[in-house]
Amino acid sequence: VTTLSNSRLNRSLVDGEPDLGLPITDRGLNYGDGLFETLLVRGGRPCQWPRHRRRLELGGRRLGLVLPPAELLAEEASLLTRGIADGVLKILITRGDGGRGYRPMPGAAPRRVLTLHPVPDYPAGWYREGVALRRCATPATHNPALAGIKHLNRLDSVLARAEWDDPAIAEGLMSGPDGALIGGTMTNLFLWDGSRLSTPAVDCCGIAGTVRELALEIASDLGISCAQERVSPTDLARARGLFLTNSVAGVWPVRQLEDHRYDVAQLPLDFIAGLHRAACTPEGTWP
Ligand SMILES: Cc1ncc(COP(=O)(O)O)c(C=O)c1O
Repeated sequence: VTTLSNSRLNRSLVDGEPDLGLPITDRGLNYGDGLFETLLVRGGRPCQWPRHRRRLELGGRRLGLVLPPAELLAEEASLLTRGIADGVLKILITRGDGGRGYRPMPGAAPRRVLTLHPVPDYPAGWYREGVALRRCATPATHNPALAGIKHLNRLDSVLARAEWDDPAIAEGLMSGPDGALIGGTMTNLFLWDGSRLSTPAVDCCGIAGTVRELALEIASDLGISCAQERVSPTDLARARGLFLTNSVAGVWPVRQLEDHRYDVAQLPLDFIAGLHRAACTPEGTWP
């Protein structure tokens, strides 16, 4: 059993075939016509696989894209991760091949692309002392038809992430065209006011993160209120603390946003530790 190292070639399966590559007619490549999931594999077992599968299914319904059976994806994921202790698995589903033009052809077979990557080596201090953030200038696009799902069009995040190269800045926060906060380029945002949580609603833009969903459930179980609402820059400045969630990173407390410093000790640290553990602990095997 090994841990994927950066020096090792990433593995892939395209429609079940190793290292096949993509045809130039693929609609995912041409139009971003598809969906993806990125999940953590620990000890060869998936973390939060049912949540990732459910988000994929939601995306499939929204895009009118018939997904491959979940059992097939699980079987291929199991094959790809065999013998690997820890890694990041990316599952991409495209609408398959098409001709020139946007119109989806009824009955086209979806294409599945599974790739395996090393787990990023985030500094331990980011979890203990918190991360530093910046505000991105690139606005997040509003589109209720695409909000919440993890579709392949991620140019908002690509442009926002290209805004900085300082490795000391862990993440950038993005706002919609109306100035309301959406989240990070690759994370969901939570605010703590000392007694309750809030997180930006994802009904106009943003991704309904799997760890965000887990956070809402754990908060509800513990009787901690967590509103999904419009979050303004003033709300950010007034918050007692902030944290970010993502299925590969887990939970990052925030110590600084631009020049504004937050006291990480003011955050509900037990809640954060429990959420991080739940997000990054493998459960079950591939079904
Ligand atoms: C824009 C954006 N928001 C939120 C998330 C977090 O989603 P999850 O918790 O499922 O990793 C991601 C993950 O990549 C993302 O790209």
